[in-house]
Amino acid sequence: MKTHLLETQIPLSQSRLWQAQRHYFTEEGIHAWQQVPFFVTSNPFIADRYARLIAAYLQDARLNPEEPVYILELGTGSGQFSYYCHLALQKYLQDPRLAQLKICYVMTDFTSSNLAFWEEQAVFAPFFANHTLDYALFDIEAPEPLHLVKQNRTLKQLNNPLIVIGNYVFDSVRHALFTNQAGQVFRCLIDTQIAAEDYDPEKDQILSFKNIHFRYHSKAIDLAEEPPPLAALLSQYQAQLPNGSFSIPTSALDLLDFFKEYAPPGYLLLSSDKGFNQIQEMSAHPEDLVFHGSFSFEVNFHAIAEYLRSQRGCAHLQSYRDGIKTNLFLSSAAPTPRLDRAFYDLIEQFGPADYFRYHTLIKQQDPLDLNVALTQLRLSGPDPYVFSLFNLRLCEQLPQADRKLQDAFAALAPTLLQQIYPLPSSTDHAFNLGYFLHTLERYLDAIPCYEASIQRYGEHFDSCFNLGICYYYMDSNLSQHYFEKALPLAGAEQKPQVRSWLTKLKST
Ligand SMILES: C[S@@+](CC[C@H](N)C(=O)[O-])C[C@H]1O[C@@H](n2cnc3c(N)ncnc32)[C@H](O)[C@@H]1O
Repeated sequence: MKTHLLETQIPLSQSRLWQAQRHYFTEEGIHAWQQVPFFVTSNPFIADRYARLIAAYLQDARLNPEEPVYILELGTGSGQFSYYCHLALQKYLQDPRLAQLKICYVMTDFTSSNLAFWEEQAVFAPFFANHTLDYALFDIEAPEPLHLVKQNRTLKQLNNPLIVIGNYVFDSVRHALFTNQAGQVFRCLIDTQIAAEDYDPEKDQILSFKNIHFRYHSKAIDLAEEPPPLAALLSQYQAQLPNGSFSIPTSALDLLDFFKEYAPPGYLLLSSDKGFNQIQEMSAHPEDLVFHGSFSFEVNFHAIAEYLRSQRGCAHLQSYRDGIKTNLFLSSAAPTPRLDRAFYDLIEQFGPADYFRYHTLIKQQDPLDLNVALTQLRLSGPDPYVFSLFNLRLCEQLPQADRKLQDAFAALAPTLLQQIYPLPSSTDHAFNLGYFLHTLERYLDAIPCYEASIQRYGEHFDSCFNLGICYYYMDSNLSQHYFEKALPLAGAEQKPQVRSWLTKLKST
């Protein structure tokens, strides 16, 4: 394969790859989520866990009730997590101990294409209007005070602690790479080679990350010449990992320095990402980069925790999981008993990574155990995405099942319908839900689902035809209206079916 040498002997943190990554997210905008995995950090289960952690923290923190508390979501991307987290927060903030607080959730990203998508989403409109939700441009690598777009105001220094959410973002921004050999610390330098077809020489632009290869070099460093906080971390790894490699999430650490200034009352950071919580897990070298449209790099959460502890902060790091880790960082070590307890119950005992593992196992079940499916659906939030994965099997099996079980599934329908987040590439969950209720002969309940499908995806044969049937069983004149709409949308094989329904209507 013909290759192109992009750079030689460059520290990883200065590689051109990071710039190319920014370019990727800017160009792709909301369409990035057709390639970049996001379910694990953008489902109602994880969002509910975060909302409960936030509610616990708000009861522990010393707050000025006259001033709003801001929740800043970094690298928000699709906005699906924000939607679920905001919905869950509305529920937990009704607690009388919290009801008087003014909370504003701020979705942020560095690319305005994502902001433009959030602006258009009808599901956000009521929350924008009541100022519980807003959005802002925010670049982790060049942080500035937030300018809330909907409220058109810039937040100078904050008067309450800041709550920060950073899911799958620290893996996407700059890291530095080091290696220790016999107690000497080396900075890793890389040569980056890319397939010639993935590089545009005229624009000097990386077109794809698919075929990238690295060669490594090491350069001994003198700790006395490094900035003191970094030197302290490096010397700790020098002692604890005398022969091993590790990364330092440089952009994340710089961001925490910014938050320290920006929010003098302190901050709480909640973060889920791939990464290392313990020294024993580390093995950093550039092959740890994972390519999936964009690329990502395992986050050294252990370093973030140590960095904060050296500045009188503290951290709760989740114990080993083969998957994402969910961690909590605080700028201060002041007691937070409710938050500590919530972290144990909601993250350590059974957290987002554990949920994802169960989800992966259960979604493959065939035939589906209906009681297991019901439990999983309830645990999921209920999540429309999980419902759609089960839908065909439910439609096959549930009509023969016990009436009580049918009722229990049907009872989840209104929440499922409410929790549909309108991503451009997503399955038509509303139609699936309508079809499911229709199969159970719950025509009245199926109607709003088919209507939601039409509102979102326009009029299609199946939704119009099925609405015709549902309205027929409701004795409504709308039945004819929808069969007439279905007729021109029908294929040759479907037309006789529609005509026979129209004839049947005329004869009744
Ligand atoms: C892998 S996606 C994760 C999105 C979302 N948080 C999730 O969990 O699905 C990374 C997100 O970070 C954003 N991002 C990348 N670099 C950034 C930067 N320097 N500052 C702020 N956001 C950034 C991207 O636009 C993208 O939305």
